[in-house]
Amino acid sequence: MPIYDPERDIPDLTGKTIFITGGTGGLGAASALHLAKHNPEHIYISGRNAAAAKAIIQQIHETNSITSVTFIQCDLASLTSVSQAATTFIAQPQVQKLDILICNAGIMAHTPALTTDGYEIQFGTNHLGHALLIKKLLPLLTASPDPRTVLLTSQGWALHPSGGIIFPDLRTTQSFPFGGPWRRYGQSKLANLIWARELARRVPGLTAVSVHPGVVGTGLFHGLGLKDKLLIYATAWWKFVSVQEGAWNQVWAATVDKKEVVNGGYYEPVGRLKDGRLDGDARDEGLGERLWNWTEEALEGL
Ligand SMILES: NC(=O)c1ccc[n+]([C@@H]2O[C@H](COP(=O)([O-])OP(=O)(O)OC[C@H]3O[C@@H](n4cnc5c(N)ncnc54)[C@H](OP(=O)(O)O)[C@@H]3O)[C@@H](O)[C@H]2O)c1
Repeated sequence: MPIYDPERDIPDLTGKTIFITGGTGGLGAASALHLAKHNPEHIYISGRNAAAAKAIIQQIHETNSITSVTFIQCDLASLTSVSQAATTFIAQPQVQKLDILICNAGIMAHTPALTTDGYEIQFGTNHLGHALLIKKLLPLLTASPDPRTVLLTSQGWALHPSGGIIFPDLRTTQSFPFGGPWRRYGQSKLANLIWARELARRVPGLTAVSVHPGVVGTGLFHGLGLKDKLLIYATAWWKFVSVQEGAWNQVWAATVDKKEVVNGGYYEPVGRLKDGRLDGDARDEGLGERLWNWTEEALEGL
C-alpha cells in the first residue's frame, strides 16, 4: 500500500455518525480531528476529562463548521458509568444509527488495582468497559447500512501470560512473578484483538477489526515510570511516530471500503493484515469462545 494520506484517503463521510472512546486526548483526539475534515454528520467523543474534551471540540470547530461534536462522559472503569454513557448517547434525538465506533480509550502498564466493579483495572477498562459499550450500542450499529467497529489493540498483546487470559484471576489485582503491569496490559490487549474477531464472527453485517497504532508518545507513554520509558525508548526509539500519524491505522480501518478489509482481522500500520503473526493463544478459537462466555456472564443484566 502506498503511504497513507488521511486528507486524500479518507472518503467523504457525509451523513455518518461516529463514536470515539478516549476522544479527549492522544490517538482518539487525533482520530476525531482527521475524521472531522471529511464532514461526518456528528462525532461523539467520550472520556472522563470534560475540560480536555472542550478543548478538542473547539479545535475541531476551528477547521470544520459542518460536523457537530459532542462529549459523552464515560469512565470505562465503571460499568455504571458506561451504562449511563450509552443511555445518554442513545437518548440523543438525532441519533438513529451509529456508523463507526472506535474503541480507542485505554490504560497501559497500570499498577495493581481494581475497577469500581472489582475487575483487574486494565482488563476491566480496556476490555470489559468496551464490551459493555459495544453491547449497548449494537442495535444502533446494526441500524447502519455499513457498520464498523475498530478496537485498539497493541503489539503489546504478545506480552499476555501463558494461556492468554487467566480467567480465575480477573477479579483480583493479578500478580505475576515479574513484569506484572505489562502481562496484565498484554492480556487486556489480547482480549481487544480477540473481541474484534468474535464480533465479526457473531454479529451479522458488522465489520470489526483490531488495530495496533504504532509507537506514539501520547499520554500513555508519558504516564510511564522512568525505567519503562527508558526501556521503550532504548528498544524502539526509531519506531516513534507523531500522534497524527499514530491515528492513521484506526482512521484507515474506520473508513476504508469494507471490501478491502478481512473482517475480524488484526492490522498494523497502515492497513497491513498481521493475522499471520498471531501466536497459538491469539489464534485459539476456544479462547475466543471462553472470553465471549466469561464477558456475557460478567455483563449479565447490564
Ligand atoms: N501510544 C502508543 O504507542 C500505543 C501503542 C499501542 C496501542 N495503543 C493503544 O491506543 C489507545 C489510545 O491510547 P493513547 O496512546 O492515545 O493514550 P492516551 O494519550 O493516554 O489517551 C488515552 C485516552 O483514553 C481515555 N481513558 C483512559 N482511561 C479511561 C477510563 N477509565 N475511562 C474512559 N476513558 C479513559 C483518556 O481519556 P480521559 O482521561 O478523558 O478519561 C484518553 O482520552 C489505547 O487503547 C492504547 O492501548 C497506544
